[in-house]
Amino acid sequence: MNNINRRYFIKTAGAAGLALAAGNNKLFGADPSDKVVVAVIGIHSRGKQLAQEFASDKNCEVKYVVDVDSRYLDSAVETVEKAQGKKPAKLKDFRKALADKDIDAVVIATPDHWHAPMAIEALKAGKHVYVEKPCSHNPAEGELLIAAQKKYGKLVQMGNQRRSMAIANQMIMEIKDGIIGRAYAAKTWYANGRAPIGYGKEITVPDYLDWDLWQGPAPRTAYRSNVHPYNWHWFWNWGTGESLNNATHEVDVARWALELDFPTKVVSAGGRFHYVDQDDWAAYDSQNYSIEFKEKKMITWEGMSCNTYNPLGGGRGVIIYGDKGAIHYLTDSYTVFDAKSKKIKEVGSGTKNTDATNTVDPGLGSSHSANFLTAILGKNKLNSPVAEGHKSVLLCQLGNIAQRSGTTVYCDPSNGHIIDNPKAQKLWSRQYESGWKPKI
Ligand SMILES: NC(=O)c1ccc[n+]([C@@H]2O[C@H](COP(=O)([O-])OP(=O)(O)OC[C@H]3O[C@@H](n4cnc5c(N)ncnc54)[C@H](O)[C@@H]3O)[C@@H](O)[C@H]2O)c1
Repeated sequence: MNNINRRYFIKTAGAAGLALAAGNNKLFGADPSDKVVVAVIGIHSRGKQLAQEFASDKNCEVKYVVDVDSRYLDSAVETVEKAQGKKPAKLKDFRKALADKDIDAVVIATPDHWHAPMAIEALKAGKHVYVEKPCSHNPAEGELLIAAQKKYGKLVQMGNQRRSMAIANQMIMEIKDGIIGRAYAAKTWYANGRAPIGYGKEITVPDYLDWDLWQGPAPRTAYRSNVHPYNWHWFWNWGTGESLNNATHEVDVARWALELDFPTKVVSAGGRFHYVDQDDWAAYDSQNYSIEFKEKKMITWEGMSCNTYNPLGGGRGVIIYGDKGAIHYLTDSYTVFDAKSKKIKEVGSGTKNTDATNTVDPGLGSSHSANFLTAILGKNKLNSPVAEGHKSVLLCQLGNIAQRSGTTVYCDPSNGHIIDNPKAQKLWSRQYESGWKPKI
């Protein structure tokens, strides 16, 4: 019996066990064998932050840091050791972590094409999963991951951390309480000053990288100089563009605030419009999509990857419109306006904090990982279970599908499936490298 199963056994053994598991925080904090043991997979940038975050949590031990690029392992080991006082082991192949019965959960921060396939393998191996956003590379994979979660019964949390931020939760509560009346529309945006990535050259795979395992489920290509790390985001074989890279966060807040599930219609305009003919960035640096819902509500997203000018404030945010006012949300603050556009309240960091009840979670928020760990320990529910995360990811995927197919996409509002549009429907799933297609 591994640590977590032992705890579940204690919990389900009777009322006394339940009280023990739910009530006594120290029980889990004091004994190292009661920690959730995790492997963090893909530890360059986001993964290293997450490794630090998980290792700093009293409910967790990071046993492995895993990466197919050996250059990043030592510094991740150092970071984790500093945070938890114990060295994690280094691994190249995540399947070794899945085979270790001590591992209770995996944290996935690889490129997007690996998210759902790796999460599915982890579920099959009996592990809980924290998967970075987007939870899938394409809608079919998202649905498969939800089916796998149901079949294998472990927890899957998506890394849209605003769901665990106190400030966002407080704002949503106020919207539900009617502070802006009936919330019916949201404008979301993202702006950054990304440089061009040049034209990649085919080069020999560096000896520090396992390119085959990096590619995994994606059809094989020769190694090129401008793909790894990070710039894979802008190539459809691995990435999902700025839409899934960043809209995922704000579109998710909008969908949460407006209480929506699946849309009826999606349109998009956009392209590689800044550095025209200057590199091989295949996604869009400028994009604008609009999403309609049967509830008579709408969400728009504007992404400007290569232009930092933004009169709406911050590089990213959400404006939520209600029939009695509006809210302007900038990650760690929000401002409320009445129906005459008069400011009635400011809450959060950098504001006058006119609400004394506010508790702000600064930065990107470590409470999302804490929520995942305590959910595994049976103390609370996940703030972003994958079936919910998928709905927000799907909206951003449909924005890309509308753009890539050059069509208006109409959807079944019961599940978001595309209606009567073969060009768009082709993009619902992807081609896999032979032998790597995820199965549950
Ligand atoms: N929630 C957030 O706020 C947030 C912020 C940043 C990034 N992210 C997400 O995190 C993910 C990673 O982004 P990044 O910027 O760190 O990318 P990155 O390219 O810098 O790092 C990805 C790492 O994964 C490794 N990798 C690739 N295939 C692997 C495999 N099979 N096994 C083990 N390691 C593998 C790569 O070698 C690399 O070190 C993305 O999906 C991104 O969307 C989320």
